[in-house]
Amino acid sequence: MIATRILGTGSAIPGKVMTNHDLEKMVATSDAWIRERTGIEERRILEPGRATSDLAAEAGAKACASAGVSPSEVDCIIVGTVTPDMPMPATAVLVQQKLGAPVGAAFDMSAACAGFIYGLGIGDAFVKQRMFKRVLVIGVEILSRVLDWKDRNTCVLFGDAAGAVLLGPAEGGARKRGIFSTHMFADGSHWEDLYIPGGGSKHPTRPESLEQNLHVVKMQGKAVFAHAVRNIAAACETALESNGFKAEDVDLVVAHQANLRIIDGVAQRVGLPMSKFYLNIQKYGNTSSASIPVALDEAVREGKVKEGMTLLFCALGAGFSWGSALVRW
Ligand code: ACO
Repeated sequence: MIATRILGTGSAIPGKVMTNHDLEKMVATSDAWIRERTGIEERRILEPGRATSDLAAEAGAKACASAGVSPSEVDCIIVGTVTPDMPMPATAVLVQQKLGAPVGAAFDMSAACAGFIYGLGIGDAFVKQRMFKRVLVIGVEILSRVLDWKDRNTCVLFGDAAGAVLLGPAEGGARKRGIFSTHMFADGSHWEDLYIPGGGSKHPTRPESLEQNLHVVKMQGKAVFAHAVRNIAAACETALESNGFKAEDVDLVVAHQANLRIIDGVAQRVGLPMSKFYLNIQKYGNTSSASIPVALDEAVREGKVKEGMTLLFCALGAGFSWGSALVRW
């Protein structure tokens, strides 16, 4: 079986910065509280008039450019998002149109903050099965449009961004470079810990659902925190064990940037120093499915990712859905 490689990375970050001090003027919070409890200093907000597919297409185009591959060669687009442009059609087909990619597969994938890991796993399988040759995997969220800006428990945590990787067959055979493994998990018994009740078939968009404020994120923060630390750490251990690796074999961890304390908890459980984790949560907050590909792209552009390095990706999000991936760069 052939291996799959990450051929290129890209990201798109909105220009508008919202600091913790800006939030102090909106809800009863403080810069000190947010920094201490989360590590977040500021986040980005997409300007009115632009939508998820605009940011996704920008990140996708950059990933293709960094790989030296024209979007005209992309035969599959997977968009991990819970904030699509609209319920129908898939944001991925809008990205396909904006990139000028030819007719191929294009679909959205809903696994919240684990959306990129899930997309990577599916894209990897497609390439390995020779079903598609150039798979663009995008993680994108415009969470600012589904937040309750009066709820300090949630609105301080999230931001908008898009990140992308282009996948293709690895040269030089399996086990040299590429995606060594992806693991995906879900436990639906916790869906009520993090969800947006309105806008679907259960509570369709109606005047009453809007009055009840059902179209915004609802979250039990403590429950999410505890499951995130436990399940992300377990997924990391699964990735290491299934490849016969030890924690010390990992050169760089690109973890979902939800909360600095969650990352610290994972680091302690897995036995990895924080110095091995790439961190940019302070700049962007939690960008859900975009957080890993954005962090990866920044790490690559900063020269922190070198050929031959072993990278570990890991995330958990609503569902709960979670997973990990081990990659030799
Ligand atoms: N500013 C000031 N005070 C606040 C704020 C705020 N923004 N938000 C909550 N508080 C208050 C609470 O009301 C509470 O007050 P009370 O004691 O009077 O009731 C107090 O701060 C302490 O609240 P806790 O819930 O104990 O705070 P905790 O240490 O658990 O931190 C947090 C809260 C940051 C939400 C944490 O639980 C967390 O990060 N959970 C994970 C959430 C997450 O990451 N969700 C993203 C999606 S899933 C994912 O990406 C993994």
